[in-house]
Amino acid sequence: MGSKGICDRVAIVGMGCTKFGEHWGKSVSDLLVDAAHDAYHSAGVEAEQIDAYWLGTLSSGVSGLTAAEPLKIQYKPVTHVENMCATGSEAIRNAAYAVASGAYDVAMAIGVEKLKDSGFSGLVGSGGVASDGTEAGMTAPANFSLLAPAYAEKYGVDMETLRDVLSRIAYKNHYNGARNEKAQFQREVSMEKINASPKVAGMLGIMDCSGVSDGAAAAVLVRAEDAHKYTDNPIFIKGLSFVAGPAEGTKRQEYDFTTFPEVVASAHDAYAQAGIKDAREEISMAEVHDCFTPTELVLMEDLGFSERGQAWKDTVDGRFDLKGEQPINPDGGLKSFGHPIGASGLRMMYEMWLQLRGEAGERQIENPKLGLTHNLGGQPGRCVSFVSVVGR
Ligand code: COA
Repeated sequence: MGSKGICDRVAIVGMGCTKFGEHWGKSVSDLLVDAAHDAYHSAGVEAEQIDAYWLGTLSSGVSGLTAAEPLKIQYKPVTHVENMCATGSEAIRNAAYAVASGAYDVAMAIGVEKLKDSGFSGLVGSGGVASDGTEAGMTAPANFSLLAPAYAEKYGVDMETLRDVLSRIAYKNHYNGARNEKAQFQREVSMEKINASPKVAGMLGIMDCSGVSDGAAAAVLVRAEDAHKYTDNPIFIKGLSFVAGPAEGTKRQEYDFTTFPEVVASAHDAYAQAGIKDAREEISMAEVHDCFTPTELVLMEDLGFSERGQAWKDTVDGRFDLKGEQPINPDGGLKSFGHPIGASGLRMMYEMWLQLRGEAGERQIENPKLGLTHNLGGQPGRCVSFVSVVGR
């Protein structure tokens, strides 16, 4: 299964990203303008040079007009894409394929979401009215909280140890976010405070959750052979995969909530495209979808960074720390940035852009070769998954 891929055929030559957080004083349009202008400037292009746009937003607008109007795009194609929480990554994926096909020379992927003043909260049930009783209307934290006891039971990890492992993930991501001027939360948070944070669902407390924020980010993509016309330091797409699962998990007895088969499938596909045999050894760093702390734990195994049942040990051993062997969420992740849905996938790519170009300042990882971004939409047993591999 899978795509033939577009390894080394498309480059990112410019990126922009707003600060993520509470933007009470800015509209969706303002955020789009800020991100797009940052990206134009970064690629050294004028707006007129962009041939086509892909806009990712889940709920902050409909149709291409959401971007065409504020960006004053003059009679050009603007495609609105949506794929749940993987929406920002979908914008990149579609723009990359458009450029690779030769249909356009220069494309922009742009993503935005403004959640704070929409009243969005993870504590509001996502399922609406249950249909025939087989779909429960559970909140996002409740859905993802099911991963924790399932993991503990399957791998014989006692709950106290697991609590420390989850806190360690939140601690790490807040540590990284404290070193990022674009993050929503820029403070380190102690293990004690994380352990003691008020419970939200199951064993998850507030500090196990990503926050709710506003933000936008954008990328300029061109064919690889044109990349050096725009920058001395492009980054190249090696693998790009997206899968939608059959949404059977919650209906099947054998689904045990310790894996996302969709992530395994999309990682397998992206690695095949990029020629990666051993992700633990070959991927230098990754931005993954840490919507809740147990999600990051399970992702380490689904992406092949840890053996099954071993991610909790790798976490405690510091493998995924900023100075560890395989840093995960060096920018602070969803934990520090919140999750303005249409923007998150592009925000992840923005960190790859900085790291691979040696521009990540205090967070800079030594000589990274390949980076991975991972975006998940949905819930355990019923989700979509995106994986990209990028490099110099
Ligand atoms: N992580 C760290 N700090 C957080 C936080 C989080 N997830 N959420 C809120 N805070 C902080 C705020 O900065 C604020 O700090 P301050 O008092 O120093 O300013 C304080 O906690 C209270 O903020 P508030 O916005 O009132 O929190 P809340 O109780 O309304 O929201 C949650 C907390 C957990 C409900 C909210 O963060 C949430 O819904 N998260 C999940 C989002 C989600 O499900 N996304 C979909 C993912 S698939």
